Amino acid sequence: MMKTCLFLLLLAGSGAAFAQPAAPLSARLANVELTFALGADGRPTYALTYRQKPVVRPSRLGIRLTDGAGFDGPMTLTGSETTDVDDTWQPVWGEVKSIRNRYRQLTVHLRQAAAPGRRLDVVFRVFADGLGFRYEFPKQPGLQFFTVAEELTEFALPGDHQAFWIPGDYDSNEYPYTRSKLSEVDNAALVRASVAIAVREAPDPQAVQTPLMLKSADGLYVSLHEAAQVDYPALQLHVDRASARLSARLVPDAVGTKAYLRAPSRTPWRTVLVSDRAADILASKLILNLNEPSKIADTGWIKPMKFVGVWWEMQIGKSTWSYAASADTLNGAGQLVASGRHGATTANAKRHIDFAARHGIGGVLVEGWNVGWEDWFGNWKENVFDFVTPYPDFDVAEVQQYAKSKGVQMIMHHETSGAATNYEQRLDTAYRFMNRYGYPAVKTGYVGRIIPRGEHHDGQWMSNHYVRVAETAARHRVLVDMHEPVRPTGLSRTYPNWLASEAARGNEFNAFSEGNPPAHETILPFTRLLGGPMDYTPGIFGLRGFLAGNPARRVHTTLAKQLALYVTLYSPLQMAADLLENYEQHLDAFQFIQDVPVDWDDTRILEAEPGEYVTIARRQKGAASWFVGAITNENRRTATVDLGFLPQGRRYVATLYADAPDADWNTNPEAYRISRQTVRAGRKLRVALASGGGAALSLVPAE
Ligand code: NOJ
Ligand code: CA
Repeated sequence: MMKTCLFLLLLAGSGAAFAQPAAPLSARLANVELTFALGADGRPTYALTYRQKPVVRPSRLGIRLTDGAGFDGPMTLTGSETTDVDDTWQPVWGEVKSIRNRYRQLTVHLRQAAAPGRRLDVVFRVFADGLGFRYEFPKQPGLQFFTVAEELTEFALPGDHQAFWIPGDYDSNEYPYTRSKLSEVDNAALVRASVAIAVREAPDPQAVQTPLMLKSADGLYVSLHEAAQVDYPALQLHVDRASARLSARLVPDAVGTKAYLRAPSRTPWRTVLVSDRAADILASKLILNLNEPSKIADTGWIKPMKFVGVWWEMQIGKSTWSYAASADTLNGAGQLVASGRHGATTANAKRHIDFAARHGIGGVLVEGWNVGWEDWFGNWKENVFDFVTPYPDFDVAEVQQYAKSKGVQMIMHHETSGAATNYEQRLDTAYRFMNRYGYPAVKTGYVGRIIPRGEHHDGQWMSNHYVRVAETAARHRVLVDMHEPVRPTGLSRTYPNWLASEAARGNEFNAFSEGNPPAHETILPFTRLLGGPMDYTPGIFGLRGFLAGNPARRVHTTLAKQLALYVTLYSPLQMAADLLENYEQHLDAFQFIQDVPVDWDDTRILEAEPGEYVTIARRQKGAASWFVGAITNENRRTATVDLGFLPQGRRYVATLYADAPDADWNTNPEAYRISRQTVRAGRKLRVALASGGGAALSLVPAE
């Protein structure tokens, strides 16, 4: 590590408003160059270029505090340092075996030009594929406990880019993406219409969530997000439609404050990914690199897995989470009367365990196993679930013994219905219960308005809650998959037991809403997935006719595309989400789900364009086999799979699961063809993808 200190320009006069602006400072790596400057008004700004093209025009930096003496006025520069770092690290699981972390860091030390002269540092890290920067509040007299009124960070974009956005909602990321010019961003109608989303609060029609994917007219791909969002609310962006200037909007707490901090402390990293190749955005490791290394020393117990579950049958109304028809359906002894429609029975769990054992699927999730589901939702009620009491028709011990005898692991389900307080009080007991019955992993959920009442899913309090859950789970050696949390920012590096989150619009919306348009899965890798793995729950084979009384309801993909998603949507935890009977009818296609790994040594982004298509190849962890997924939006197209990634001279058996020539997500989604051939490096396979279609390919060494 090389370290240079450039103590620059101490601006004259301590109490003076500001003298002359300091000369700009810059830091560059490869094609990416950052410039920091104090503007003519003494306020700090930064700008970013890529191959000398503007990515972010001079944009404001600063933080407003509630005490009125924040970092929103003129500042003086009291010093700066640059540092170069180039190292590599190995993730516990992931898309690649080892990750290079190479950046040039510029730290600027600032002081308020006027009294009380508080100090603030801004730390920039310039990578070959973008920028991360954060504010640091040094320990100092006069700044101990403080509250943030708003962050003033801006991203002034040089043009009216095309954007892939979802509304800046304080409570949900479960929206479909809109593709529009920045000048057209208006979320009001979409928020109003999205009645399938349980809690919606998006007061600013021009606010969007991050990761925000942008494409400029001259072909630059830019993504704005954050990394290591800890002890701070989520960053949303307000779009000034006339100027393409985006400004930070932090999700407020119950009383309208943004964050409570104590110096020394720091904000999350604000991130800008940039490239002239869309594939580079998907390959970027910048966000993971900005997160802290694992806090879990012994990670040997952390094992990625696939699972089936008692789940989709509830989503499509074939069975229920609840045991009784309502909380008032009681017998003379005051006990719930079974409706006969309960999904989580011992027998149904065993049926799933049998299937998992037969097909080498590691886990079985059973939702609706615990009491509370009769009135779990919509009442803003605190003590809905205790997470340890099963319904009378679900025998936890018997299920566990059966699973164990078959070599299958049970996955726990903890729906909190938004009552985070209740969950926190019961966490230790709930995880001890899991340990006792051998459940290695839990799927949590936050459907409903949050308790503490008035807090939001994406505010500082809840962000700390998710981290507390991950930390407590780690102490109990429990793996976590969170549904409806804040969207991830790479924290799975720090808490590798936090395998996945939902935090976006999953496959489930195809069951209970108008669904996800065919482009949806081609946008997710460029947006939500940049922060970390998603539990999208792919693998639906019964793509239509699943909802009684609503024949129009369908999944907006072909069957082959559902297979491809196991590769294109990376997660160390992947569900085979459909009903077992649908798999039994297509066991030849299910073979791909059986074979596809959830942990990888290498990943190659072969072709990608947001909203259009994604083709990705990955090499199985510790093995020579490769798997490829190719997907398209509503347009038919031909995917080109350049097998240049295969080792020279080695023959591979390629099994292709492709759309049949007459496949179409709308009219003929189940039509697929499976073919086999022997291939070598250097071949280019051209694979036809149907409208809303995809293809999956496994490549296993022939010898
Ligand atoms: C929403 C989750 O996303 C879904 O997977 C789960 O089944 C329900 N909540 C009930 O917890
Ligand atoms: Ca959900």
